Formats: sequence, structure tokens, C-alpha cells
Amino acid sequence: MNIVSKFVIPVLAAFLMAAMPLASHAAPEDDQYDVPYVPTPMKTVARMLEMAKVKPSDILYDLGSGDGRIVISAVRDFGAQRASGIDINPIRIRESNENARKAGVTDKIKFFEANIFEYDFSEATVLSMYLLTEVNLKLRPRILQILKPGTRIVSHDFDMGEWEPDEAATMDGFRHVYLWIVPAQIDGTWEVTAGSTKYPIVLEQFFQRVSGNVQLGGQTHPFRTGRLDGVNVIFEARAQDGTRDVPAIYRANAVGPGALEGMIEIGGKKIPFKARRTGPSPSIK
Ligand SMILES: C[S@@+](CC[C@H](N)C(=O)[O-])C[C@H]1O[C@@H](n2cnc3c(N)ncnc32)[C@H](O)[C@@H]1O
Repeated sequence: MNIVSKFVIPVLAAFLMAAMPLASHAAPEDDQYDVPYVPTPMKTVARMLEMAKVKPSDILYDLGSGDGRIVISAVRDFGAQRASGIDINPIRIRESNENARKAGVTDKIKFFEANIFEYDFSEATVLSMYLLTEVNLKLRPRILQILKPGTRIVSHDFDMGEWEPDEAATMDGFRHVYLWIVPAQIDGTWEVTAGSTKYPIVLEQFFQRVSGNVQLGGQTHPFRTGRLDGVNVIFEARAQDGTRDVPAIYRANAVGPGALEGMIEIGGKKIPFKARRTGPSPSIK
């Protein structure tokens, strides 16, 4: 199945459901690019920007920005501070500049004729995409490397493989919108300091999922649950409170590379803690 037909199947579904000539937008000359041009319906644009919670401090980048509709809507309808679109096709860039002019938002918007695999979008606080899963997967390592933890990514229809979305919605029964939040990098061995007690913990990370253990009092306590939401990490282990075995819930912020600060909640008590990364995770060979 070629790229155009992969796009045309969901688009054909849209066509049948909404009786709109969307499939006709995938122009034959688009075959030369990684993804053909198919615009996101404005209702879906609104859903994507709502899901990303776009606000006045945000800087949005749309990768493969088409006629500029997501970029323009981010500024005009959601009050984003600035927004940029990157598209490889000069026809799309011309259309986008014209559309931004008509919308009266040229002061806060820029369109770049460039390849998304080469362009630096690291200043984004929100990233939007209507690409293909295989293109998302090719972008994924760079997204995780260059974007700040907490950056929101929204995608129309195409997912990120085993990086599970933090939120997903289906519109009109067939159109999907996904949200991911870039997680901080916390994988490794750490030393916790809580009051006068110091002890090691292991944090193992699979995107936003966290597992690991706490090594305390000669015992290893594996986490029951663990999750990252940008820079916020939460995990639950067990601890001894006198003779009782009680939950120990750790809530912390990744305050810098190799530094966590937060609270441990044990048996109704809250104990502040700090942790410092001491090495790689033991599972990394
Ligand atoms: C499906 S359209 C999405 C348009 C817009 N984001 C929207 O949702 O309405 C994909 C766009 O990506 C552009 N594109 C394809 N490959 C690209 C690449 N390597 N770098 C930049 N843009 C690319 C195409 O020209 C097309 O406009």
C-alpha cells in the first residue's frame, strides 16, 4: 500500500461519512513528499487545539502545515503567543501566507518552506501533526530528544507506535485525535535523601510509564504503579510504618537533569525528599 492510499482510506471514510470531497485534495504530485496534502477539517483542528490546551504562553509548530489552518487557528482562536508551520511544498507555503494575511494574524505567524526532518522546532511548547504513523515514528527520537518535558503533541489520525497516547478521542466515529506529553528522562539509579535517611531507588522508564524499586531496610520494594506527566513523576511502593506494611506514594518534579524533588506520603504522613541520579538503570547493558 503506498502512502497516498494509506491516507486515502481514512479520507475516503471521511468522504463517505461527510459527503465531502476530501480525497480529491491528495494531489498526484504529492507523491514526491513523505505525506500527501489532506487538510484537517476545522472541527478536528479545534478538537486538537482544545486537547493540547493551547493558551496565550504557547508556541505552536505544525509539522507539514498544509494551508496553515492549524497554525492560524492556534493564534486567532486560542490566543497562542506565536505559531509556525513547516511545509516542504512551496504551493502550501504561498497559500498559508495568503490565509494568514486574510485572517489578520501575520505578526504572530511564520511559515517555513523546509523539510520537517531537518528543521529545528525545539522551541515548540505544542506540536501538531497530520502525518503518517511511519513518519511519526521516524520523528519520535528527535521529538523526545529536543522538546522540553511537558511539551504537548497532538496528532490527527496517526499514532506513535508503542508510545501510548496520554489522551485519545474519536470524532464522528472514525477520526482520531491523540495527545502525548513529552516525559522527562528519569531512567536510572538514584539516591533518595528523606530527612537523615539515604537509600537507593531504581527508576525504569518506558516513555511515560515508570517501574522500578525502592531499596530500604535491607528489602527491595517494587513499585505497584508509576507514571510521568511531563516533569511530574508519581510512583507507589510499600514501606514499613512500625510493624505495618503501608503504601509509600512518591510525588516529585524533575527539577533538572538528574534531580528530583518532592514528597513521600506514608501512612498519612508527608515527608519531603530529594533524589540525585547516580547512574544508568541496571537494565541498560
Ligand atoms: C496531511 S497534510 C496536513 C496539513 C495540515 N497539517 C492539516 O492538518 O491540515 C501533510 C502536509 O505535510 C507536507 N509534507 C510532506 N512531507 C513533508 C516533509 N518531509 N517536510 C515538510 N512537510 C512535508 C505536505 O506537503 C502536506 O502539506
